[in-house]
Amino acid sequence: MSVIYTVKDFSHLLGLTGFSDTMLNNHFTLYQGYVKNVNILMEKLISMTDQLSIEASELERRFGWEFDGMRMHELYFENMTKEKSEMGGELKEKIEKAYGSYEQWLDCFKAKGMMRGIGWVVLFEDPANGELFTTWVREHEQGLPATGKILLVMDCWEHAYMTDYGLKKADYINSFVNVIDWKTVEKRLSTK
Ligand SMILES: [Fe+2]
Repeated sequence: MSVIYTVKDFSHLLGLTGFSDTMLNNHFTLYQGYVKNVNILMEKLISMTDQLSIEASELERRFGWEFDGMRMHELYFENMTKEKSEMGGELKEKIEKAYGSYEQWLDCFKAKGMMRGIGWVVLFEDPANGELFTTWVREHEQGLPATGKILLVMDCWEHAYMTDYGLKKADYINSFVNVIDWKTVEKRLSTK
């Protein structure tokens, strides 16, 4: 198998407050599965002689799910930290412009996290006008706004919290908010 994408190591997150090592290690293993499958799919799709076959179509349909599953997990693990982190001025200004205050944005972010079903809550920047908005992305790839710059992602699939929190998703969301790496989030702004 040709390797185009390699697994990133997020083991530095072990010991993260509110996240057991068991839950994190399971999550890393799930992420590694996406990377592996992206490599397999790329190789298979390139080598298929009949691109119009049912097999090729089904693999093609699967590609976005696997690729975004890989990328969304990388963004998620990268926007968490064991260090104390505070939001910088530029991001704070943009959030206040869009939501009135950080607290109002946080209420919105948490409420979206409580949506039923599997998916992600994502804070986006529209690079066309610099505006921020928060939305729900279903599975990994459905509802991703075209050209939207992903600033912050929170995994709301059950595997992200059930090991430690059971059905107490709100508690997981609170723990996640406490470990957001705001420096990394701010670096994702299109102006950086
Ligand atoms: Fe996940």
